[in-house]
Amino acid sequence: MTSLATTVERSEQLRADVAEHPHRYRILTGERPTGPLHLGHYFGTIAERVRLHNLGVDTFTILADYQVITDRDAIGQVQENVHNAVLDYLAAGIDPERATIFTHSAVPALNQLLLPFLSLVTEAELHRNPTVKAEHAASGRALSGLLLTYPVHQAADILFCKGNLVPVGKDNLPHVEMTRVIARRFNDRYDHVFPEPQALLTSTPEVPGLDGRKMSKSYGNAVTLSMTSDETAAAIRRAPTDSERRITFDPIGRPGVSALLTTAALCSDRDEHELADEIGDAGAGALKKLTTAAVNEFLAPHRQRRTALAQEPGHIRSVLRDGNQRAVEIAERTLDEVRTAMGTTY
Ligand code: TRP
Repeated sequence: MTSLATTVERSEQLRADVAEHPHRYRILTGERPTGPLHLGHYFGTIAERVRLHNLGVDTFTILADYQVITDRDAIGQVQENVHNAVLDYLAAGIDPERATIFTHSAVPALNQLLLPFLSLVTEAELHRNPTVKAEHAASGRALSGLLLTYPVHQAADILFCKGNLVPVGKDNLPHVEMTRVIARRFNDRYDHVFPEPQALLTSTPEVPGLDGRKMSKSYGNAVTLSMTSDETAAAIRRAPTDSERRITFDPIGRPGVSALLTTAALCSDRDEHELADEIGDAGAGALKKLTTAAVNEFLAPHRQRRTALAQEPGHIRSVLRDGNQRAVEIAERTLDEVRTAMGTTY
């Protein structure tokens, strides 16, 4: 397993190379449409995706609807979540004329890659995958076949379009590692069809939720991109802090206070310690006021564009229809190559 330090270092080199040769890269990344996208998604991967897209890198964004049911039975409001995610992508600056946005379930040939890929990994390898283990533990449920094979499915997401660069957060690194193993084994066993994609880890530190835990819709600690400024203020008002008046940055000892400082710092491109010094003895009330202003100011242009785009639901639907169509064509071509390599052409 490649170490985190190596990946961080490699990501820096990759960033430099992408800036110089954007046309050598195709990125594939995306989200599970489990709920509204939040600041964690924004700073974790969306901002980087938009930056690469603007450099001219071919950009594929997957809404991994089948992945929603890796750790739960109910697929939930998946249509609404997909629609809202597309709104956020466009509002964030993804241009659908130059990028492909698509849903997992609309691309049968992508999903068919799962079958040969499953033959390339062992059950032990799947059980060892840290993300599978963590998600299984967090789900508190029996391990489903889909969760066990989640990394293989994700390999199909990446390899169907021969993506060679995968911007992801830390928790998805084991999947990229497995994707490289699958690509290598397929190429060795049959014929050279797939690139070995590289992970691009974002340099932004993980955005904590408003209570200091990981930001997650299910914890109710997220600032979503689609909230109004009043809803944002209310969410921040509810955030747990402590009674010490002097504001200091101490993520271990004061997770609530520090989470607000990190949020404000990211949104205003400032330093947490500097903000803490500025607030000084003014207490949690002043900290919340400052954080609310920073978040609302940062998100205002995004929210404005989002509201305008939401007036045209037909446009959003056609973006997705076109993206799915393009993904289907690419997946069919790749599946043809796979069939040829395997000799299963009849
Ligand atoms: N598993 C990713 C997440 O949890 C979403 C995802 C699905 C993805 N397929 C992908 C990310 C392919 C990168 C590449 O957010």
